[in-house]
Amino acid sequence: MHKAVARLRGMSTKHLVDTDRLADLFRREQHVFIDANPESKRLAEEATRSLVGGVPMNWMSRWPGPFPLFGRSARGSRIVDADGHEYIDLCLGDTGAMPGHAPPATVKTVGDAAASGLTTMLPSEDSIAVGDELRRRFGLPAWQFALTATDANRFAIRLARWLTGRPKILVFNWCYHGTVDESFAILDGDRVVSRPGNVGPPVDPAQTTRVVEFNDVEGLRAALAHRDVAAVLAEPALTNIGIVLPEPGFHDVLRQATRSTDTLLIIDETHTICAGPGGYTAANDLDPDLLTIGKSIAGGVPAAAFGMTIELAERAATVLDAKEGDESGVGGTLAGNPLSAAAMRATLENCLREEDFAITIPLAARWADGVQEAIGEFEAPWSVQQLGSRAEYWFSPPPRTGGEAAARANEELDAFFHLYALNRGVLLTPFHNMALMAPTTSEADVDRHTEIFRSATLEVLGR
Ligand SMILES: Cc1ncc(COP(=O)(O)O)c(C=O)c1O
Repeated sequence: MHKAVARLRGMSTKHLVDTDRLADLFRREQHVFIDANPESKRLAEEATRSLVGGVPMNWMSRWPGPFPLFGRSARGSRIVDADGHEYIDLCLGDTGAMPGHAPPATVKTVGDAAASGLTTMLPSEDSIAVGDELRRRFGLPAWQFALTATDANRFAIRLARWLTGRPKILVFNWCYHGTVDESFAILDGDRVVSRPGNVGPPVDPAQTTRVVEFNDVEGLRAALAHRDVAAVLAEPALTNIGIVLPEPGFHDVLRQATRSTDTLLIIDETHTICAGPGGYTAANDLDPDLLTIGKSIAGGVPAAAFGMTIELAERAATVLDAKEGDESGVGGTLAGNPLSAAAMRATLENCLREEDFAITIPLAARWADGVQEAIGEFEAPWSVQQLGSRAEYWFSPPPRTGGEAAARANEELDAFFHLYALNRGVLLTPFHNMALMAPTTSEADVDRHTEIFRSATLEVLGR
């Protein structure tokens, strides 16, 4: 950490940033946005005719302007919007486009595969190659496919409950694993409660879920000692409340505590594949019972997968192959379709490989160094975290737990920095301040972001 930042730990951003100045700057940026994007504005108005909130999926209204940009095309690390502006895209479809938009091998394969039939309910040869490749990358020997990471997690949870005969799932405070009911639970003091914004929970999540803070070794051991948890569902580092890294030894304790209580361990690599070709799991020799992944593995074509040990696969086969297997709650009509399988095969054979991470991880380090340097220059008590090809800045020192991370969020500053960057041609992920590098990202792209971050900081601090 930069010395100046370390010295200022504990100093509140509130004392550093004049809120009136911030509100004025945000208003100014909103006007810039509206003036620059007449076609997106027109489309946004038209969309309200038939789309709830004017968007086909509610997260799309999370972008920082008064209306979302409408996309026209995306290739490599560039997005072009409806008004013809070209952006450096550091959001990359919130990980779905981690290999870069429209990776050529995936696009060509999808075209050919589509012409040969989109879905058949028959396994395809490509699915074998994908299973073999997932096995090679993540170390788990037996795989099933899904269409979204949410579904992969739901299916893994169902199997875990069936395999253990236990009712509960343990998750870490402020995790995100997709629209999985069991995971929309947080801690309120010692109590498990529904996460704010959880729409229509089927039951009180306290009935289905135990929650502990990430990195809380004692809390984890105590929660598992009840021996009613079927599985811990964990990202190996939290990425969805900002990046919260595991402390040294935390994963050893997690594995040891799950084993000693006969609890299964499901590692969700959907975002943390940013750590390398086999995700955080392979990079750090983790040994989960089940592993889930989605989003990036088919280059943006809907596809996901979950893997397991041979022992679990043999036991799972007794229900999955049973006469009622199609009503087991595991699987789906389009899961494993030949188009997704072909897209996964082409993507895994040509993208997200060692040689790709040899480009993207140093780019993320450059991004983090650039931001850290600007932070140090202004002696702001802010910080930067990096995990493989992903990096993120915080308007606070780095949090140790999800609870700390949630408490330190600064929505006003986030919105201003996002909009400021967007108005200057750089897209960040609209949730917290995350940037993801693709092999198509250049050093010049990274440096452009640093320049923008520095000038936004200058303005916000009134220097
Ligand atoms: C770690 C993790 N798991 C699962 C999901 C769910 O992915 P999807 O929305 O594609 O189902 C997400 C989505 O952000 C995620 O970050």
